[in-house]
Amino acid sequence: MKKGLFISIEGLDGSGKTTQVRYIQEYLQRKGIETLLLREPGGTKIGEKVRDILLDARNTEMDSVAEMLLYASSRAQIMAEKVIPALEEGTAVICDRFIDSSIAYQGYGRQLDINEVYNVNFTAVRHILPDITFFLDQHPDTSLRRRKEASTADRLENEEMEFHNRVYIGYKELCSRYPERIKVLDAGKSIEEIGKEITEQLESFFERM
Ligand code: TYD
Repeated sequence: MKKGLFISIEGLDGSGKTTQVRYIQEYLQRKGIETLLLREPGGTKIGEKVRDILLDARNTEMDSVAEMLLYASSRAQIMAEKVIPALEEGTAVICDRFIDSSIAYQGYGRQLDINEVYNVNFTAVRHILPDITFFLDQHPDTSLRRRKEASTADRLENEEMEFHNRVYIGYKELCSRYPERIKVLDAGKSIEEIGKEITEQLESFFERM
């Protein structure tokens, strides 16, 4: 039975997720809540191997359905090994990317059937969705430039701009479809301002609980 708080954070590559993930963790720790920080794809021994395959820029021949299933299998593994046991113990789980990444990148980006992507992933997560998802809203023009300046591009980052535009549209659709769960944050704001908004959202979540 799920007891812990489950948070995910989403956004395009280079939207500043990592900083905010750490902020959320520190905020919860200050409140005396035990936390577990995870990233996707990866986060388990098996998942990290799957991650290597997925992000290897040399795997240019990867089929879109194979890609979608690999992301889902890494997710199934992290659910079984890490997320579910932690939530059952009452630990707050913070996931850097989760199911919405697959809907946005594989569903919208690769133009696979959205319902199929959702159903496969719903099985992978054992029907458990985050309590709150933060979406760092940044247009692909800005986020990709930021990311490419910072490091060597991986297989997904190497995709053409059209792909990233579709992913962005996908995220926006998810935000309007699930306004109760997905909280939109303007990634153009300062780190402090975004942190303040996250705090407000979490405070109001705790009040409602
Ligand atoms: P990563 O280096 O973790 O990027 P980021 O720091 O932006 O999260 O690489 C993960 C990549 O995998 C990223 O380009 C998004 C993509 N991805 C999917 O396409 N589908 C998914 O389900 C997930 C979790 C990630």
